[in-house]
Parts: sequence; structure tokens; C-alpha cells
Amino acid sequence: MNITFKNETFRDDYTFRNSPEAIRRFPFPFNEDKYMYSVNMEPHVPAGPAGHAYNKPIDVDEHYLGEMADRAKVLKEDPLRYQALPHMMAAQWDTLELLMEAQAEGYPEHFTLEKNGDQWRWINRPMGIDQTFTFGDASTLPMEPLEFITRQVQGDVVIVDQRDGQLWCDAGMVTTQADWSLDFDIGMNFHEWHGPVPLAHEIGVFDRALKFLLNLQQGKPVRRLNWTMTINPRLDTSPENYHKWGADRATVTPENVGNKVHLRCELQTLWRLPRSNAILFVIRCYLIKMEELVTVPKWARRFHRVLRDLPPELADYKGLTRYRPTTIEWLSKFDDGQPTSPGI
Ligand code: HEM
Repeated sequence: MNITFKNETFRDDYTFRNSPEAIRRFPFPFNEDKYMYSVNMEPHVPAGPAGHAYNKPIDVDEHYLGEMADRAKVLKEDPLRYQALPHMMAAQWDTLELLMEAQAEGYPEHFTLEKNGDQWRWINRPMGIDQTFTFGDASTLPMEPLEFITRQVQGDVVIVDQRDGQLWCDAGMVTTQADWSLDFDIGMNFHEWHGPVPLAHEIGVFDRALKFLLNLQQGKPVRRLNWTMTINPRLDTSPENYHKWGADRATVTPENVGNKVHLRCELQTLWRLPRSNAILFVIRCYLIKMEELVTVPKWARRFHRVLRDLPPELADYKGLTRYRPTTIEWLSKFDDGQPTSPGI
């Protein structure tokens, strides 16, 4: 199926919008009327109704070109959003192969990968790229393999190395993050980079998640959903650029909630890599403004309840405290108090 790619912005004039189809395929993250951290991982197998974000291993949608243009802008201003430690070269090639294959198999009308021994040709039609290179020889690409492919894939990417019974944040492309920094976290381990998260350490979420991931099998990727909220459809909510977006949280009024306040959902997938034994972590960000979200009545009802009853520690950590009451009040108009069904 051909995707019609939109020309849109995630900054300044914020022309980003979801089409009705994009709203329907949004990975709504709540399967009950309340939310607490958990080890919410499941096999990453095709699922959902036709067209849903879970249909393909790596999801490409109408926002592809807009997101890639935004990433290029971020990298121009701040090249440290891409980093890879020297021992991660095998994992970089593993990642390039996985992401090229997934895009070519999932969207053959837009991407093609031809392999002839170690002579490969990659064609990315939407971006106008036709690149021949030698797999394993970085000098045959215009930049490192991880940077080359992640400039052409929606979502942030972190590669974690596995050694000494731990996972280490040793490479990544991070330009669409919810207020954390690759430059700060590079070289940290699983418990260290999760240090700021409230409550989850105490209830054993990170110990259990780490144990699970250390045993992740090749060919059996897993997924989980995470969420937060963002004012304006801004992808780059990084600490590095906090001065550009932090004050937006104080601009929410009862009149502009529907347009300004966005639910930000991350579809996170984790893949064991074949040669390096590292784990690829893809964090794909989906944005939906409140006006779009309430077009699905069961989402409106449920999100109202989740937000209303969210533990204050989570609201503070996610940075929602300032505009949460205004948003709850606005959403309450869409909650008729009826019981909801379990599941999404
Ligand atoms: C938050 C990275 C896997 C659960 C975070 C943060 C980072 C991160 C950088 C933000 C921390 C901060 O505030 O500075 C990663 C990486 C992973 C990974 C690189 C790949 C191995 C997981 C898994 C779980 C998990 C498997 C499963 C339980 C969480 C939770 C938060 C979090 C609950 C808080 C999110 C929020 O409230 O918005 N992660 N994570 N992470 N992570 Fe992970």
C-alpha cells in the first residue's frame, strides 16, 4: 500500500496533524482506567486491525518525511545526538541490516535492499537515496552505518551492549526523546540510566525487566508502550533544548487545551542482534492532540480517568503537573461515567 507522505513541521509553525487514518492506527497505551509502571512486555508480532501501528515490525507512516527532516535539523544544530562508542561497530552493521530489511520487506514500494555477497544496494524512494556499499566496510558509506540508517528510520534508536550481566547504553540516535539525553546517558548501565524514574525501582520493575532482557532471543523481538504528554507537537523535547520548550507548559488555557496538549506514546521494540549479541532498542514516538484523541469516545473516557487518578510522583516525573488540572477538566466533558471494557 502506497503511503502519502505529508510535508509538515514539528517546531515553529507546527503544521503536524494526524489524518483520520493516522488517528485510527494510533497505539493508544492504556488497557484499563488507571496507570502504573509494570514490566509490560509482549512478543512483537504483527497485531491489530489492518493498518494499525503493530502491523509491521518497523512502522512507517504518513509522518516519515516530516520526521526525517526534523531529525536532520536537530543533528545540524547538535551532532552529539548521534553517538557510538568504538566497540559498537559490529552492532552498527547488525542494526543497519535489520532496519533496511524490515523497511524493504514491509514497504517494498518505498524501499529496496539488494544483496550480492557483501555488495549491497539500498534504495529509499521517498528520500531519493540510492546507495551502493560494501557490508562491513564503513568507508563505503557517507557516514557511520548507524547514523546512515537512523537518518532514514522513524523513531529514536539506542543500542545496548551486553556484558557482565548488565546492559550498557553504548550507541544511539536520539532526537525525539521525552526529556532525556544520550550525551548524558552514554556509557551508563540499565539501572543507572533509569535512576530518575520514581517508584519503579522500589517495586522491582527494573530488576525484572533487566533479567528478562538479558535472555532476549534472536528472532523473537518484544515490544512495550510508554507514554507522556507534550505541549505542541514537538518531537525534540530534549534537556539540551529545554529553554525552547519548557515554558510552553505554562501556556495551556481552557480554550487551547484541545489543540496544544498532546498525548505522546512511545512504541518501544527490543531486538537481539545476531553478530554483536547487543540489543537494539527502537523508541518510536506518536503524537496525538486532545481534539484528535476525543474523536474516539472510549479513548477520551479512559484517558480522562487515567490522568485524573495518576500517582502524583508519575505526574511530576513526566512534567504534567502544571497543566494537568486544566486538561482533566477539559476531558471530563467527554467522560459520561460509564464503565469501560478491559483491553485497548
Ligand atoms: C524511562 C532508556 C528499557 C521502563 C527511561 C529513560 C531512559 C530509558 C533513557 C528516561 C530516564 C530519565 O528520566 O532520564 C531505556 C533503554 C532501554 C530501556 C535504553 C533498553 C534496554 C526499558 C524496559 C522497561 C523500561 C525494558 C520495562 C519496564 C522504563 C520506565 C521509564 C523509563 C517505566 C519511565 C518512563 C516514563 O514515566 O515516562 N528508559 N529503557 N525501560 N524506562 Fe526505560
